[in-house]
Amino acid sequence: MADAAIHGHDHEDERGFFTRWFMSTNHKDIGILYLIVSAFVGFISVAFTIYMRLELMHPGVQYMCMEGARFIADSSATCTPNGHLWNVLITGHGILMMFFVVMFVLVMIVLVVAVIVMSIPAMVFFSPAEFHG
Ligand code: HEM
Repeated sequence: MADAAIHGHDHEDERGFFTRWFMSTNHKDIGILYLIVSAFVGFISVAFTIYMRLELMHPGVQYMCMEGARFIADSSATCTPNGHLWNVLITGHGILMMFFVVMFVLVMIVLVVAVIVMSIPAMVFFSPAEFHG
């Protein structure tokens, strides 16, 4: 509320897209950026697992070949297992999943803490934001 009182919401936002989203100091916009990044890396990481699961589906190596990564198994062509590609995918998957989980959970923690704090009248009453607003 203090935020709305200071800045007002009845005028047009004159900032360009880049300034609005990539130079923002607004905690709500930054929270949305967190969620977008979380979803984005989550999708990439899931794409990696789909390819890893595809490779694990049958014994032996059919897709991650030194001759080139494949999406369609070709039993007539030779396939020298490419362990490095597997390592790249599993490492990328693990690291991206950490960002997916942590960035999402951070936003949720902030929301839950805000709800708890706002539900305690004395905390709202003595809040510095109320004195500024
Ligand atoms: C928050 C962290 C993580 C989440 C949410 C997550 C989630 C998933 C999901 C949903 C799958 C697909 C499962 C399936 O196909 O049955 C998967 C596959 C896999 N994950 Fe993760 N993962 C995480 C971290 C890691 C880490 C740290 C590693 C290893 C360093 C790892 C290694 C793998 C491997 C090897 C697969 C493919 C094997 C399989 O499909 O069964 N994951 N992961």
